[in-house]
Amino acid sequence: MTRRTKTMNSSLISSRQVPAKATAQKATELHAKASPDFTAKLAETEALLQRAAAEFKPVTQASSLGAEDVVITHIVNRLRLDIPVFVLDTGALHTETLALLERTQAHSRAPVQVYRPEQESVIWFIRNEGQDAMYKSIQLRKACCNIRKMEPLARALNGKKAWVTGLRKEQSNARAEVPLQDNSEVASKGLHKFNPLANWTWGDVWHYIAEHQVDYNPLHDQFFPSIGCAPCTRAISLGEEFRAGRWWWEDEAAKECGLHVKS
Ligand code: ADX
Ligand code: SF4
Repeated sequence: MTRRTKTMNSSLISSRQVPAKATAQKATELHAKASPDFTAKLAETEALLQRAAAEFKPVTQASSLGAEDVVITHIVNRLRLDIPVFVLDTGALHTETLALLERTQAHSRAPVQVYRPEQESVIWFIRNEGQDAMYKSIQLRKACCNIRKMEPLARALNGKKAWVTGLRKEQSNARAEVPLQDNSEVASKGLHKFNPLANWTWGDVWHYIAEHQVDYNPLHDQFFPSIGCAPCTRAISLGEEFRAGRWWWEDEAAKECGLHVKS
């Protein structure tokens, strides 16, 4: 074990370890609970997305197809906003996520574009560092994220004026200050970032999904609140934090892949 990273044998921990009774209840039944001011929050979100579409063209939504992102795409489609969606298909997503991606591409009014990593880089990395490199050190995990997420993200955002994400304050301590509109990367990257659900609770997200019968990733019914790549995401147990199932072998401080790390 290193000081910062608990190295592990991936075969010992299954990312499919699901707590007992995990499939008994739907996520909508478990979590849907609107905040008292939900109507005001929804109005705030809709106004922000309308403004982003009108004043920050070209703007695009980054969707991991997680619960927050399917809500945003639903609002974008419902309001017929000019905000195309992109998904980074890292080549390591769960089959459930890929199936939802197909359904979203088939049914979304807003175009859904998929960005994939460069195959040569992926092959080179696996050949040199192994299929399980992400468990060996934080450096190797971040190198994998760079190849599979960061490089495709740069292509997805190229030429854009703004992007929309599903970040919420409640998701982690590191995200507690997430603003609705983040202009901190305008100088360095020329990009505005909109986080229209910044103030939503998990209950609000599921209330919207239930109310509008939004299609969602069935992994959410199996105690996966936050869903990333399959090798780096596991179900959480009762009492664990929202992002406890992401890179669970690493210390809390390291738990970001770079998508939302300030330059
Ligand atoms: S991560 O940085 O830890 O991977 P997280 O899964 O919490 O991020 O998702 C936060 C937001 O980042 C999502 O709401 C979405 O806007 C964006 N995002 C994350 N993963 C992807 C992906 N694979 N494709 C597109 N956007 C993504
Ligand atoms: Fe690689 Fe895991 Fe990062 Fe996905 S989350 S890019 S599999 S290290």
